[in-house]
Amino acid sequence: MTPYPKRQKKLTAILRRRGVDAFFVSKPENVRYLSGYCGDDAYLLFAGSGKFFITDSRYCLQAKKDVKGFRIIIAKGPVSQLVAEISAKSKVRKAAFEAGQLPYAAYKRIAGKLEEKGIVSLPLEGAIEGLRQVKDAPEIALIRDSVAILENAVLYFESILKPGLSENDLASKTEYFIRAASGEWASFEIIVASGTNSAFPHARPSDRIIRPNDMVLLDLGVSYEGYKSDLTRVFFLGKISSKQKKIYGIVKEAQRRSIKAIKPGAKISEIDGIARGFINAKGFGSGFSHALGHGIGLEVHEGPSISSRNHEEIKPGMVFTIEPAIYLPNWGGIRIEDMVLVTKKGCEVLTDDIDKRY
Ligand code: GLY
Ligand code: MN
Ligand code: MN
Repeated sequence: MTPYPKRQKKLTAILRRRGVDAFFVSKPENVRYLSGYCGDDAYLLFAGSGKFFITDSRYCLQAKKDVKGFRIIIAKGPVSQLVAEISAKSKVRKAAFEAGQLPYAAYKRIAGKLEEKGIVSLPLEGAIEGLRQVKDAPEIALIRDSVAILENAVLYFESILKPGLSENDLASKTEYFIRAASGEWASFEIIVASGTNSAFPHARPSDRIIRPNDMVLLDLGVSYEGYKSDLTRVFFLGKISSKQKKIYGIVKEAQRRSIKAIKPGAKISEIDGIARGFINAKGFGSGFSHALGHGIGLEVHEGPSISSRNHEEIKPGMVFTIEPAIYLPNWGGIRIEDMVLVTKKGCEVLTDDIDKRY
């Protein structure tokens, strides 16, 4: 039994509650979540009680292989025309779009065609993303697989980490390792930031050569069957200075305290506040400017945002990162990032086997 019918059912219940009788899904991750399709350039249309999968001839075979329970339509003309025709035949009166996804020009084309048929277009934001915040069992299994490949990639990175190689050398060798090990890709541009470069939260690997005694920040993730992982570790080559030890200890303790407080019903903003409050109290608050973490799944960054502004409650099945940090310009930055899965009573650190070493 695939998970897709259950996910579709949850979505159609939302559509009913919102009073729309059609929904055009264009975000690739949402198409995949609802249908299992893993190619490109495809759309879903829920219209009345019908479910339509629209793509073009390049993806005909892929669609037939991946997609069950939808009527597969190979578009020969404009998708806007098709959407309007199907909606009209299905007696749709109000059609909704993914407002955060559909480019304005595409929206205008589709809304124009629908209007010709007397159908109203409405924006709908976050309906599928809301469902995706709580992972089902097949998703959790794929995330675990992604983490297992990540673990090997981190071990590989550590085995080649030596003075004399550049940040780019390390990043490209690690990228190749992931490609060879999983047949997929790193889930985002690998961050290898050494010395003072680590003070840039999202540094790009450079030609800087690693030196003895450098600290090196690695932020790495893997994509596996669409599911992403994301982790940060800092390595110290040579002797750790007392300042490095102190800052590392503060970040690690901030992370430990916030992870300990994660449980269903806790407020997300409070989890952020625990790590932030601890770092503030140690006098380094200005060095931690970003949110504590983010949801992760089909996208590296998805809901829920683990930030001071998110007052939602934590729910079992959520998967997110906890990544406190202290960045000090011209000195360096330390970020420790792990992924957690919220359980019935607390949370499991999915990346716990990837040793922090310090
Ligand atoms: N690797 C990007 C992030 O940690 O959010
Ligand atoms: Mn992250
Ligand atoms: Mn990361």
